[in-house]
Amino acid sequence: MKKLTALVLAALLLLGLLAGCASTGDGDTTDYSAMTIEELKPLIKTATEGKLTMVTSPDFAPYEFYSLDENNTPTLAGFDIALGQYIADFLGLELEIVPMDFNGTILELATKKADIGMAGYSPDPERADSMDFSNIYYTGGQSFVTTQANAALFPDLASTNNAEYQIGAQIGSIQAGLAKENSPDADIVELSKVTDIISEVLSGKLDGAYIETVVAESYAKTYPDLAVVLNVPYDQEGSVVGVSKGNAPLLAAVNLAIAQALEDGSMEQFVAEANALAEGNTYEGLLNEDGEAATEPAE
Ligand code: ARG
Repeated sequence: MKKLTALVLAALLLLGLLAGCASTGDGDTTDYSAMTIEELKPLIKTATEGKLTMVTSPDFAPYEFYSLDENNTPTLAGFDIALGQYIADFLGLELEIVPMDFNGTILELATKKADIGMAGYSPDPERADSMDFSNIYYTGGQSFVTTQANAALFPDLASTNNAEYQIGAQIGSIQAGLAKENSPDADIVELSKVTDIISEVLSGKLDGAYIETVVAESYAKTYPDLAVVLNVPYDQEGSVVGVSKGNAPLLAAVNLAIAQALEDGSMEQFVAEANALAEGNTYEGLLNEDGEAATEPAE
């Protein structure tokens, strides 16, 4: 008898659990990833109707930065910006880009003020609560940078782990994690902009920094004193679009747009154009209230 009660109880518990599972989320079991863009379009809801609001952190050439023309007029450029426009066009939405510090982009997505974020995001499981990840649209790598003068001090990652060193990484980035993991004894200095990190490495305030390889190489072209010395292993390699959580039709549509951009050669072209522009006159950071590049790029 006791055994029976236990069995009944167990069965009830299981039922309860199953019911619990089914009732989480909105019960929507539609497979949006099997739909075409035309089928998805009417199902996509965005923060502002008819618009695709995208947050970005323009301190990250060639992903996103300001390109300056001969009058020093800044234009938002980079392959994330170009891909963002491509996605908006593909979805039939008007693109609105809101630039802010990197950490802010993650918060905006988490509070669903933005529909997508494009800021060279790595699909870091620790930020999976704040956004959904698209498929990978670009694959880079991670590096440790220092100055040419100090390059010989860093033959391997172990040499970065020294209590004498001040080592930079961007707030909220996976590089901050890489710094703590590989240089735990060093003084890790977290700054909100990659551009500030580069200037502090160049001025000797920081002994080194963790930066994404393509970004480090792009800045090294502009500032030849910057040395990209070590490759840093990271297991979530690749960049994804951050999509407002739980917006399955939007996520599916973004993935369709990415697949097409990779296939039709657009992405390759965006990367080439961004690299070429990043070699010219650029400004990284946020503009002042008058929409001007607030300070001169670091010397
Ligand atoms: N890939 C790194 C991350 O996801 C760094 C991205 C930084 N992006 C930027 N626009 N500053 O954490």
